[in-house]
Amino acid sequence: MRAIGVVPKKREVCLFDSHPHPLISDDFEVKVKALEIGICGTDREICTFVYGAPPAGQDYLVLGHESLGEVVEIGTKVTGLKVGDLVVPSVRRPCDDPTCQSCQEDRQDFCFSNRFRERGINGIHGFMTEFYVDHDKYLNPVPVSLRDCAVLVEPLTVAEKGLAQVWKTQSRLPWVKKNSPENQMGQGLNAVVLGAGPIGILGAMALVARGFKTFVYSRSKKPNMKADLVESFGATYISSEVETPQQLAERVGNIDLIYEALGVSKVSFDVMRVLGMNGIYVFTGIPSQKPAIPVMADELMRNFVLKNQAIVGTVNADRAAFENAIKDLVIFKNRWPQALNQVITGRYSMEHYRELLVREEKTGIKNVITLG
Ligand code: BGC
Ligand code: ZN
Repeated sequence: MRAIGVVPKKREVCLFDSHPHPLISDDFEVKVKALEIGICGTDREICTFVYGAPPAGQDYLVLGHESLGEVVEIGTKVTGLKVGDLVVPSVRRPCDDPTCQSCQEDRQDFCFSNRFRERGINGIHGFMTEFYVDHDKYLNPVPVSLRDCAVLVEPLTVAEKGLAQVWKTQSRLPWVKKNSPENQMGQGLNAVVLGAGPIGILGAMALVARGFKTFVYSRSKKPNMKADLVESFGATYISSEVETPQQLAERVGNIDLIYEALGVSKVSFDVMRVLGMNGIYVFTGIPSQKPAIPVMADELMRNFVLKNQAIVGTVNADRAAFENAIKDLVIFKNRWPQALNQVITGRYSMEHYRELLVREEKTGIKNVITLG
């Protein structure tokens, strides 16, 4: 079978043509034909060999963790899925430590031992191949109506898990009107999204859908394609080259939530200074290690205490986040079909892997490899 992957020891990125065809070996396993695979910054970083580990005893790792596939075969004990169903797999698999309560309870997104594995990233082959096999509990069924956008489910789960934590944390406050549903947690509140990449744009859609007055703060000056896209679904785009964080705060009013999807520490900490009363700050970016930078530590610390602020990092996602992402995509597709369409900027065959992963010639928002 064909597969795109890396050989870390040789520092090579390859299109293999003899990756073994996977077979069902357990009653609960499901065989999936890959239809679409999203490319993200994590994949491109693995292609610079800073991280990314092949399965034990092998010298290569098949890439890809953002997948949409179609069920082609099911094990004898699989009940919730049938041949022909569309599915999106989760990424992280539990560690082998029996004392890790999270992994024991299928919450490997909160693994304690740090020995979890991630498909296409760390220790297990990913989905950039023709077929793959996985346990049914890691496969999330997707309605056929999402065939053209469900490859965005996995990146959207970043926002979903982030928002689940926002909801939990802010339940400490009279933040939302009593008994108002979780899907309207943002009514009357202001959110700022940092960055207009796929995680930022999908996060902004999720915030607008929950009723937040949403501002996207990103570098490029208007007019530009991302600004138009963001404004077409009801968020306000502000260029960081035009407005300072202080000006941003004056325009927004109390900033109740900052959702960071930029991965740049300088801007992220500058904007932290304008987080509002009782505000919450969600980090999703994973910057590479660079030299230290000055931050306004006293001011930040005073604010965190005197303004009751909270800060939370979020990585990976649980099954509920996948289910919420699927529900949200249905909402986005009904409300903003064109905007959602524009998030996927290019579809390519496997042969284009070098331009997509190594040379970074393909720009835009989300590029996808299509097989089906
Ligand atoms: C993936 C996550 C993963 C993270 C860190 C991201 O690109 O979407 O599932 O946990 O990288 O490896
Ligand atoms: Zn990713």
